[in-house]
Amino acid sequence: MNESTAIQPAVNPNKALWEKGDFTCIAETMRESGIELVSKLGITPGMNVLDLGCGDGTTALPEARLGAKVQGVDIARNLVAAANKRIQEEGLTNITVREGDATNLEGIEDGSFDLVVSIFGAMFAPKPFDVASELVRVTRPGGRIVMGNWIPNDPTLVAQILKISSAYTPPPPEGFLSPMLWGVESNITERFVKAGIAAENITFEKDTYTFNAPFSPVEFVERFKNFYGPTMNAFEAAEKNEKAADLQRELEELFTRENRSKDPYKTSIPATFMRVTVRK
Ligand SMILES: C[S@@+](CC[C@H](N)C(=O)[O-])C[C@H]1O[C@@H](n2cnc3c(N)ncnc32)[C@H](O)[C@@H]1O
Repeated sequence: MNESTAIQPAVNPNKALWEKGDFTCIAETMRESGIELVSKLGITPGMNVLDLGCGDGTTALPEARLGAKVQGVDIARNLVAAANKRIQEEGLTNITVREGDATNLEGIEDGSFDLVVSIFGAMFAPKPFDVASELVRVTRPGGRIVMGNWIPNDPTLVAQILKISSAYTPPPPEGFLSPMLWGVESNITERFVKAGIAAENITFEKDTYTFNAPFSPVEFVERFKNFYGPTMNAFEAAEKNEKAADLQRELEELFTRENRSKDPYKTSIPATFMRVTVRK
């Protein structure tokens, strides 16, 4: 068997997408909102918390600072390493972060956590019904799940970045379910009800995350272009079709329009998301 006919290990496109860039370069602009969101979750010392799709720990570290025993799980090896570096630098001993997949939390026992948090994390995993079932399985009876999910067609930043990016990217394979359906109340309810939750135990609230950056909106577009997997893929596809300049212009218009900072060397962009709370 020569090299070209040798069987290659299967690539998990979900993992590849998030390992492709360096989400830490975006996450750095989301720290303040992460801290603020965590402060609203009723975390008390000793609480067992799972942060799923934790990235480099924007919400997981604040959970640990409040005294919770935190387990972070993320599919991207580079982001797990980045989270562990931040944990070590801060000297936190009540948090561990490891690789894992939201569609199959093997190794985590049923009912392990008082609170399961997934902020713009599990929404990006395929097989949403498996994800809902795993979220419910690892939560203890009487515990809570809190998800933060972007909302399809919302006019604010992230929904629009994903919408614009997908318009330049080749269509996904047949049967692919958009992650944005995690921002639709009827889809969310269907998924958790199938996982055994009564519909009245699922609540929805619109909330805001603000991206704060010490550089201009146009420079912020460069960060997304160079480090955010979905936007990187869109630019690669757009370049092949000689459409990269159009994509660049659409994103620059969006970031400039949404920017609320009066300082030309700073960016502050609020983005609306759906906060979902599930009581088991
Ligand atoms: C937009 S980032 C958000 C990261 C973090 N929660 C935050 O607020 O900064 C999406 C994260 O979800 C992770 N992710 C995507 N699919 C996943 C899956 N199937 N299982 C676990 N993590 C996943 C990515 O690796 C990435 O870290």
